[in-house]
Amino acid sequence: MRIGVPRERESQPLVAATPDTVKKLISLGYDVAIESGAGEKASYPDSQYEEAGATIASAHTIWGSDIVLALDDPTPEQLGSMKEGATLIARLAPARNPELIEAMSKQGITALAMDTVPRISRAQSMDVLSSMANVAGYRAIVEAASEFGRLFTGQVTAAGKMPPARVYVIGAGVAGLAAIGTANSMGAEVYATDVRPEVGEQVESMGANFIAIPAAQEVSSDGYAKEMTEDQANAALKLYTEQAAVSDIIITTANIPGRKSPILLTAEAVAGMKPGSVIVDMAAANGGNCELTVPGERVVTENGVIILGITDLAGRLPAQSSQLYGQNIVNLMKLTTPEKDGQLVLDMEDEIVRGITVTQVGEVKWPPPPVKVSAAPAAPAAPKPDPAEEAARAAEEARAEARKKRNRFIWTAVAVVLGIALVWVSPAPVLGHYMVLALAIILGFYVITAVTHSLHTPLMSVTNAISGIILVGAILQVGSANLLVSILSFIAIVVASINIFGGFTVTHRMLAMFKKD
Ligand code: NAI
Repeated sequence: MRIGVPRERESQPLVAATPDTVKKLISLGYDVAIESGAGEKASYPDSQYEEAGATIASAHTIWGSDIVLALDDPTPEQLGSMKEGATLIARLAPARNPELIEAMSKQGITALAMDTVPRISRAQSMDVLSSMANVAGYRAIVEAASEFGRLFTGQVTAAGKMPPARVYVIGAGVAGLAAIGTANSMGAEVYATDVRPEVGEQVESMGANFIAIPAAQEVSSDGYAKEMTEDQANAALKLYTEQAAVSDIIITTANIPGRKSPILLTAEAVAGMKPGSVIVDMAAANGGNCELTVPGERVVTENGVIILGITDLAGRLPAQSSQLYGQNIVNLMKLTTPEKDGQLVLDMEDEIVRGITVTQVGEVKWPPPPVKVSAAPAAPAAPKPDPAEEAARAAEEARAEARKKRNRFIWTAVAVVLGIALVWVSPAPVLGHYMVLALAIILGFYVITAVTHSLHTPLMSVTNAISGIILVGAILQVGSANLLVSILSFIAIVVASINIFGGFTVTHRMLAMFKKD
């Protein structure tokens, strides 16, 4: 079968296949034709497609292919030039496009909507919404940074101390987590909130602080958030307003599929923000999460807050976004080309294939049955605690705490007595060494606790080199007339050598992990 990749409309910088994904489609047995100039805006010239094995063809040939890969819904003319029985794979937003469904049905084509891939683990590699949201989350931070008049990272310089920027992300889904990771890597202090308390762990694993709303929310079987109750919404609004007042950058990503985006930042919340603060409203295309957002516009409020309603964040990184989109399609084609013989096979028993099929040779298949597998099963409600049991547990905890305190006191007292006894019996010249040891322990404690956790292993492997001092001492003593001293010195030489050479081997292996091929 021949796959055709058209040049998208003027406002769309992405392309549905890149030279890299063309090679992969060819390896599945397909012929690939690209419309001349299709990849130009994403920096993929025709010559690269030709090198990858594609042919360059006219729009007419492309739309007359057996399979057409596109970004968005076709124009009536483009749809009209598709042949009966051909397959269109694109983002078709079928829920909002009943006329398009009718037109595709009349044309007798099979239409697969890439934007309706169910949110189940097996389908993650084909989820174009996640791919775009990931890139968009990164770009949202880049846009915010270019508007913000200060550094993201805190610094101590000769000219004074600069605090880090405080970034607050509302909605820690795919886009939110990408924004958190990017802001964190730029040195900002990052906070995030989501109505789903279970994402708190993911937020914290990315180095941000999770601020929970005092009212949790359930997730529907498709993996997306549901609309909040009034009480939940009020509790959330109060929290967002408080956080807005202390944040420099706010990224909002809250999205309820099929509905207008919820308002999370009211005009009052924005009025309480500091001048120069930046809001990037990622939900702008769907109405926006901020009351003052104007989709596609940059708004500056009276109190100097900049609100970006950018709706094409992923399109601002066209090469990367096209590659991800193209790879999502390759993953779908792998699923639907089981024999790798260039023949598309649509198995309607497969819930991914069924979930994206809008029409099948003209027959309307939309909407699909709901997905059976829950992407995030709701946790069973915790049983209500018995007050008597609660009181008994609290008393037991208090007793355990008191026991711990008493033990700590006893051990400290024993250590002090032993220390005094040791000083008492030690000859005067040794006392100075105790002082050095005590200072080394204090200094070591402060040095190690000041180093970030991720650097502890290289720090330890390098400090192993300190064993060199032991080695020198042991070599000097190994020839002693006293047999015990010689044996101890020999053991010290062996152990210190393992420590030193092992340490350098570990450092070497860790550094190799960061080396590029
Ligand atoms: P997602 O569904 O993975 O994440 C949304 C998150 O918001 C979920 O974790 C959900 O629990 C949370 N949420 C929903 N209501 C909330 C509320 N009231 N308060 C706090 N959290 C709430 O969605 P994804 O894929 O991360 O996309 C996020 C947004 O980014 C969407 O609105 C999407 O349309 C938009 N987007 C915008 C682009 C642009 O160019 N502006 C490009 C790509 C995506």
